[in-house]
Amino acid sequence: NVKMIIDTDPGIDDAMAIFYAVAAPEVEVVALTSIFGNVHTAQATRNALYLAGFAGLDVPVAQGAELPLGGQAIYPSYNVHGAEGLGTRPAPEVQGEPVSETAAMLMTRMAAEAPGEITLCALGPLTNVAAALRLDPAFARNIARIVVMGGSIDAGGNKTPHAEANIVNDPEAAAEVFASGAPVVMVGLDVTHRITCSGADFSAMAGEAPLHGGLLQDLAQFYIAFTESRGKFDGCYLHDPAAVIACTHPELFDTVEAAVDVELTGEARGRTHTAPRRSTPVIEVCKGVASSDVKSLFTRRIASLT
Ligand code: BDR
Ligand code: CA
Repeated sequence: NVKMIIDTDPGIDDAMAIFYAVAAPEVEVVALTSIFGNVHTAQATRNALYLAGFAGLDVPVAQGAELPLGGQAIYPSYNVHGAEGLGTRPAPEVQGEPVSETAAMLMTRMAAEAPGEITLCALGPLTNVAAALRLDPAFARNIARIVVMGGSIDAGGNKTPHAEANIVNDPEAAAEVFASGAPVVMVGLDVTHRITCSGADFSAMAGEAPLHGGLLQDLAQFYIAFTESRGKFDGCYLHDPAAVIACTHPELFDTVEAAVDVELTGEARGRTHTAPRRSTPVIEVCKGVASSDVKSLFTRRIASLT
């Protein structure tokens, strides 16, 4: 069993990833932590509380950083995920509150209490993860793995021509995490751009699992409309679910070990690229994926939610 903290900026594909984690028998979600990205942090916290409540996930939700490490302004992707992060839906009514610990405090405490047992699945900008590494030097050893949805080696960018959204929203944090020596797995656009789901797939999931599949189908319509508006294809990418699936089914991914650098300046700010092996620690970079197996695992498990 994988004990998992999910750091998230919900976000439509974040909702998909959280529901997949709830459905996966290999995963025990132990906490959610929020981060800005698709929306501002306070809204990400509300959405995380809402999704946890909806999925019957009774775990602490800790609020994360409100600004990137450099303090620069943030630009949520309202056109991709909707004004409140959940498509056309208004901000959800939320029961419950975040815990008093910050995201970084919760991550370092839980990892210290169970060294080597907790996987951190990071589905948004890496600000909280960098903050945890700064807060507790032992965090890099205590955490079993940090599986990051973000970056791209050979697949170009999505938020800018050069950079993937989660990395470009806090490149300094990403650089610190990749160079930290912690066991990092990067699930970037190299693989997530090969994992897609169509409107028909979501309809089928909604038919089998009206509650959870129904919510995802509703949210997916907005996400799919965005992809179509870009003239890409009829469907959406399963970015964030791919990172959770890389935890439950690593055998579906091919990885290479590489040192990964992040561009911090100029128009390519946020671009990730492999660097020559120097003193910088290497991470595992996903380069290949059994796309249809990942997709069918996702649809089967969402369809099993009752
Ligand atoms: C990533 O950016 C966000 O828009 C998604 O939720 C995902 O985490 C994809 O680049
Ligand atoms: Ca996300």
